[in-house]
Amino acid sequence: MLSTDIVDTLVTIFGGGVRFMLAEGKHYKTIWPNKALSGVTIIDQTYLPFEFKLSELTSLDEVVEAIKFMRVRGAPLIGVTGAYGIAIALTNNSNDQSLANAKKKLIESRPTAVNLSWAVTLMFDQLKKEVSSNRASIAWMLAEKIANEDIKINQTIGEFGYKLFHKVKKPQINILTHCNAGWLATVDYGTALSPIYKAFKEGLNIHVWVDETRPRNQGMSLTAWELEQENIPHTIITDNAGGLLMQRGEVDFVIVGADRISIDGNVCNKIGTYLKALAAKAHNIPFYVAAPLSSVDLSYHGENNLFDIECRDEDEILKVKGMDSSNNLTEVKIGYSSAYNPAFDITPAKYVTKIICEKGIYNPGDIGKVLE
Ligand code: MRU
Repeated sequence: MLSTDIVDTLVTIFGGGVRFMLAEGKHYKTIWPNKALSGVTIIDQTYLPFEFKLSELTSLDEVVEAIKFMRVRGAPLIGVTGAYGIAIALTNNSNDQSLANAKKKLIESRPTAVNLSWAVTLMFDQLKKEVSSNRASIAWMLAEKIANEDIKINQTIGEFGYKLFHKVKKPQINILTHCNAGWLATVDYGTALSPIYKAFKEGLNIHVWVDETRPRNQGMSLTAWELEQENIPHTIITDNAGGLLMQRGEVDFVIVGADRISIDGNVCNKIGTYLKALAAKAHNIPFYVAAPLSSVDLSYHGENNLFDIECRDEDEILKVKGMDSSNNLTEVKIGYSSAYNPAFDITPAKYVTKIICEKGIYNPGDIGKVLE
């Protein structure tokens, strides 16, 4: 265990002055370390929107389970959780083997979002140079730094994105988003939703079409819940409704997050993103991607992916979760055939209008150069 002095120092260095997003009227981040620096508290997203439940993770296995089971999810947040996972593992055992084992287990827990391997590798590379006795305290500092940088990056993405929103000269701006790229997918603010929060705060008359995002319904369960907490006008639609709304002129632009971006601007994101990009292109509607530069994979270029596209359990398709009439969370079976459940797809750069990151707004083909 580490002293509370270190925690106070961490808060002073990294934690001051940040406005966290609203959940049930209070301001929260999605993850934070406990005072003893022995674990982290997370918002368990598998209960939303029905219950707001916090949970503590104090071992590497608990962190790996939370990522795999999607108690925490969203590319930036699983990166930060992975970083804290290294700190937790080293608090329990700081030798070389423990460090290497934590790196391997965490990276394998969800393969598609590059932010996880980015954060874990960053931690590993710094910590392997340190003597074992110093590793845990340094790991907590580094993880906290990555978490706080995520907040600042997302706030900046919001400011850049807002400039694009502002250009739409209409009495009401209709925005379509897919999956959840809000504060629940990051430590705070979100990526695709960050400009939406900023625009609403600045008084723009916005309305958000929220794709339900089958099979796990992150749009309906998480994005809609987030927008509700902030009183932002929104409507849930089925994943298949976007085309019709675009045809009718009821979508001014689309904005989504990303799990991995190639250096030439191809975007891997939640399954269904590609179809929205195709429809947007057909209707000449801007298609924006908002993501931190840590989502750019320097080893990935071209439309074909060489990384693993996560294929998840068929039960995510064949079962749905909900609240029964007695207010109990329950799951019901809705199909009996076998099902195929790839979780992400790739939107070619030619369908992406702009990528918004913490350095500004770029043509997709230029995103790799920003890292140089
Ligand atoms: O499977 P998930 O819920 O982790 O997928 C999340 C997404 O696809 C998000 O759009 C992406 O991670 C960007 S999050 C800021």
